[in-house]
Amino acid sequence: MRNYLQNVLRVLCVILVQPIAHVHAKSPHILFIVADDFGWNDVGFRNKDIYTPNIDTLAKEGVILDQAYVQPVCSPSRSAFMTGMYPFKSGLQHFVIWPNQKVCSPTNFTFLPQHLKKLGYATHMIGKWHLGFCKWQCTPTYRGFDSFYGYYTGEEDYYKKSNPYQGKLGFDFRNNMETDKGGNGTYSTFQYTARALELISQHNKSQPFFLYMPLQSVHIPIQVPIEYENMYKHIHNEGRRKFSGMVTAMDDVIGNVTQALKAHGMYDDTLIMFTSDNGGWPAEFGNNFPLRGSKITLYEGGTRVTAFVHGAGLKKTKYTYSGMIHAIDWNPTIVAAAGGVPDTNIDGINQWDNIRTNGQSGRTEFVYNLDDLAPYEAGHAAIRVGDYKLIVGYPGLYPGWYPPPTYTRDNYIKEIPYDGSQDNTTQLFNLKDDPNEYIDLSKTLPDVVGKLRKRMAEYHKQMIPANYPPATSASDPKNYNGFWTPGWC
Ligand SMILES: *[C@@H]1O[C@H](CO)[C@@H](O)[C@H](O)[C@H]1NC(C)=O
Ligand SMILES: *[C@@H]1O[C@H](CO)[C@@H](O)[C@H](O)[C@H]1NC(C)=O
Ligand SMILES: *[C@@H]1O[C@H](CO)[C@@H](O)[C@H](O)[C@H]1NC(C)=O
Ligand SMILES: *[C@@H]1O[C@H](CO)[C@@H](O)[C@H](O)[C@H]1NC(C)=O
Ligand SMILES: *[C@@H]1O[C@H](CO)[C@@H](O)[C@H](O)[C@H]1NC(C)=O
Repeated sequence: MRNYLQNVLRVLCVILVQPIAHVHAKSPHILFIVADDFGWNDVGFRNKDIYTPNIDTLAKEGVILDQAYVQPVCSPSRSAFMTGMYPFKSGLQHFVIWPNQKVCSPTNFTFLPQHLKKLGYATHMIGKWHLGFCKWQCTPTYRGFDSFYGYYTGEEDYYKKSNPYQGKLGFDFRNNMETDKGGNGTYSTFQYTARALELISQHNKSQPFFLYMPLQSVHIPIQVPIEYENMYKHIHNEGRRKFSGMVTAMDDVIGNVTQALKAHGMYDDTLIMFTSDNGGWPAEFGNNFPLRGSKITLYEGGTRVTAFVHGAGLKKTKYTYSGMIHAIDWNPTIVAAAGGVPDTNIDGINQWDNIRTNGQSGRTEFVYNLDDLAPYEAGHAAIRVGDYKLIVGYPGLYPGWYPPPTYTRDNYIKEIPYDGSQDNTTQLFNLKDDPNEYIDLSKTLPDVVGKLRKRMAEYHKQMIPANYPPATSASDPKNYNGFWTPGWC
């Protein structure tokens, strides 16, 4: 009798639920890949000298995001991805979080995986955190990730997993909360692939799967297994050759992970999203040419990045989306793609329907950054409204245009440090006509400058002070068995 009733109920449910189920497709698996310091001109589909067959295929089969913007450095972009909030509202607008600062992305904001868990997802993270680790509450497994495999600080040796920050040598590698020495000597990129393959093979497909994969590649130090470097014998500059190999190693991760998704019958139900965290760093062999500037500047080379989406849920594919999308939009866009209702009290805009149908972008303006704390390590202030971009004050360390290096480490890449003289400079560009920022229109279009300054002032009212405290020795790895470890704030 009980079984009979259950069966009747089940049939009723199926009948009742069907029309709704028809509207709400089942939640896709989501692979959100973030490359580190990967430049505009570091990808095969833009640069024939670079070998990225897997990225190229996914991008061409999916949707290339031609105007995907991020912050000019790591921590702020990552905070924006996770929270959907501008860093100038999280206190993270000034440069990055260093391993000896009592700072993390504010714990009162809801992180992306926390939203996804509510939607029934298994949530995993592999790679670099860089959102603070001074207390456990700041770390990935406390912020919505079921599992974490990677490191907390901003950079480290790809083999030894050590970060010798300001003379304090610490190891930095974890499996969930546990320190992990198992991969000492192995190039991290291989470990990350192996972990992803393990997660995929163990995953119960009836549950939606979310993997956030902020890879170590292609941040400094410049390290790469010889087999990848050897693919670039045509590149004579040693640094650029090794860097290019690092790019291909990263591309290989993506190839192997997509293979695994196919092998486990998950690929067709997976939405893959890819973005860099900021522009490339020409001083360290990354490249953004013909865009102006570098990582650590408010010019396009620091902030307009390679990005694409591919797979489940896209209604239109094989095209380039020209609408603006900003780092803060990934959170609500991914929540929407997952079948959830994005927060409305955040800065980010849900762009899911726009991207998947080639609809008009919901975004007509955004803030590149607002930072009032001199010496403005990564630029003082910039805003875009429509086709216009206003930069106020110091734009950051690298104001030039840097083609890929040729034979030697080219010496045209000079840092122009902040010295106060740039405080009152104003630059205005029309990015539609002049995407590479050659022609400063600030003198010819003072009314546009005035309009954008006014808009900037409105955002400025919402800014909270940068949380950028002095260094503390409390984080010294000596206090924690040689590892960079939470517990000092
Ligand atoms: C979270 O904290 C930040 C910074 O401390 C504050 O400005 C903001 O209003 C808080 N937001 C929420 C949602 O509580
Ligand atoms: C990794 O190996 C090197 C060389 O054997 C050693 O010096 C270092 O202490 C090891 N790291 C850890 C975390 O054990
Ligand atoms: C990808 O898989 C191939 C074939 O198994 C392997 O040779 C290669 O090392 C893997 N690459 C990475 C980055 O894991
Ligand atoms: C997967 O999860 C479903 C639903 O929770 C369960 O019924 C099934 O037994 C699981 N499959 C495996 C292989 O664990
Ligand atoms: C910038 O403008 C302010 C306000 O007009 C002025 O006080 C300051 O001296 C100027 N700074 C420079 C470097 O010109």
